[in-house]
Amino acid sequence: MLACRQVSKSYRTERGLVTAVAGIDLDVPAGRFAAIIGRSGSGKSTLMAMIGGLSRPSGGTVEVGGTDVWRLSDNALAAFRNEKVGYVFQFASLLPTLRLIDNVALPAMLGRRHGASGTYARAAALLERMGLGRYLDAYPAEISAGEQRRAAIARALINDPALLLADEPTSDLDEQTEIEIMDVLRTVNREVGTTLILVTHNLALAEQAQQIVHIANGALVA
Ligand SMILES: Nc1ncnc2c1ncn2[C@@H]1O[C@H](COP(=O)(O)OP(=O)(O)O)[C@@H](O)[C@H]1O
Ligand SMILES: [Mg+2]
Repeated sequence: MLACRQVSKSYRTERGLVTAVAGIDLDVPAGRFAAIIGRSGSGKSTLMAMIGGLSRPSGGTVEVGGTDVWRLSDNALAAFRNEKVGYVFQFASLLPTLRLIDNVALPAMLGRRHGASGTYARAAALLERMGLGRYLDAYPAEISAGEQRRAAIARALINDPALLLADEPTSDLDEQTEIEIMDVLRTVNREVGTTLILVTHNLALAEQAQQIVHIANGALVA
């Protein structure tokens, strides 16, 4: 599903060139749950952004489902981000002026792959699966942080992505809510077969994965 070859990223800053990711080789087979673990500043988010088509590498290649992501045209890259990858970040970033159902349906409406009624039925079903069936018409501010995160997971899944990228999705939540969110992510991985890559600095969470990747200073640690 995922093959990174010597992928790297440097940022030009006032202090000179900062190398965030320094040549990483990484393979994750389809359907697997992999965890990327490392200290703050080790390059985890930069690596995820290159995998997800959000940030262009300085060098190396990223292949997702046989597609060489960074050789896609701008339009094809936008479609890749919308259709092939789901993202869950630490801050749920639901749009505050939209109801939950609209937030979840939005990526599918942008893709216009299905009619609006099919999309809304699917969005409702996903929210129900996340235990949020009562809140279809609620606004993000009306539900808890954990519920917002579950809604963000539903939104990430609306286009049935092959790959779900979760970058520290629980690090701002209390322990019980963290367990709930992890259960949801693992269930999606197991039951739907979505490949899951979880970034965390929490070893106990990483140990739930089938594959653990340690990174330090932008490189893999053996
Ligand atoms: N946009 C940016 N500009 C300059 N430096 C950055 C930028 N994004 C990240 N970095 C630097 O790259 C390194 C890795 O950052 P990041 O990938 O966010 O690490 P992590 O997610 O593991 O905490 C850090 O030293 C960080 O300061
Ligand atoms: Mg990070």
